[in-house]
Amino acid sequence: MDQQQTKNLLDVRDLRVEFRTRDGVAKAVNGVTYSVAAGETLAVLGESGSGKSVTAQAVMGILDSPPGFVTGGEVLFRGEDLLTMGAESRRRLRGAKIAMIFQDALSSLNPVMTVGAQLAEMYVVHQGMTRKDARARAAQLMDRVRIPAAQERLRDYPHQFSGGMRQRIMIAMALALEPDLIIADEPTTALDVTVQAQVMDLLAELQREYNMGLILITHDLGVVADVADRIAVMYAGRIVETAPVHELYAAPAHPYTRGLLDSIPRLDQKGRALYAIKGLPPSLTDIPPGCPFNPRCPRAQDICRTDRPPLFTVAPGRASACHFWKDTLDES
Ligand SMILES: Nc1ncnc2c1ncn2[C@@H]1O[C@H](COP(=O)(O)OP(=O)(O)OP(=O)(O)O)[C@@H](O)[C@H]1O
Ligand code: SF4
Ligand SMILES: [Mg+2]
Repeated sequence: MDQQQTKNLLDVRDLRVEFRTRDGVAKAVNGVTYSVAAGETLAVLGESGSGKSVTAQAVMGILDSPPGFVTGGEVLFRGEDLLTMGAESRRRLRGAKIAMIFQDALSSLNPVMTVGAQLAEMYVVHQGMTRKDARARAAQLMDRVRIPAAQERLRDYPHQFSGGMRQRIMIAMALALEPDLIIADEPTTALDVTVQAQVMDLLAELQREYNMGLILITHDLGVVADVADRIAVMYAGRIVETAPVHELYAAPAHPYTRGLLDSIPRLDQKGRALYAIKGLPPSLTDIPPGCPFNPRCPRAQDICRTDRPPLFTVAPGRASACHFWKDTLDES
């Protein structure tokens, strides 16, 4: 096992997922490689349908299967492959060591159980606590995620909380067993802007306090800048660029990332028309040959239509899947 691998909590290597449907085979994840270390936040960014959630579902073992199948790759947690280990060890790791937070708390929480009972259940089932101790821990946890009057609110049902408060309860559920890694899939998308910022700040604070690894899936570049250490940009089921956040913001090395950055509103350019990447992502049943981004790329040349660019190393810790990464970088 190499050094880097032991240091990382999670190493996803060349992961491939396809959906076999009546309309054909949709190649949703096409060789994704990323890693997360303890205490690190990796943001996964990309347009709708780029494979962000499906990658996370394959890591968590909650892929909708059929029609979804993992067709290749490795998911190493502390060096052990979750895809090939025994079912029992896998369940233990995924339940206690890796937790997931979803966008929609209302459909992830049990509507007919009080939040206190749901939180307490985690401790009873996984740690064999008595009901009484478990309830006390649940109250502490509610307090930790700053739910006002935590003790009394244990008796309330999910629908009695506001969206922001429900998202805090989701965070509490995810934290309950003190996981090493949290995967948060668009955790604040359904909330309004001020509440978004509060929930994001809370998540970032807890991540630091517990020294957890965090994978933050989002299509909001604004959120990423404040909380992430590194970024992985996905397009048509591939990582097209990966870099430390500030380097990527300062000078992207892939035209798709450039397009994403140019389409965020900026205070210093008020009134200027916003750039939008032209066209649509490809159909995953029929990904174009060469670079999958070529039909939309302002920089595309002949080679882009025939040769698929691998991830080129741009600098230590930086890579770009573009034949012309150097020109793109120089221009930034
Ligand atoms: N249950 C499913 N059945 C068939 N195809 C699916 C299923 N789930 C996902 N897919 C396919 O996988 C692709 C990637 O989906 P995924 O949910 O990972 O996108 P995403 O990047 O998370 O997008 P979003 O930003 O909208 O959440 C989809 O475009 C779709 O083609
Ligand atoms: S490889 Fe070609 S088409 Fe793809 S992003 Fe680079 S320049 Fe554009
Ligand atoms: Mg998604």
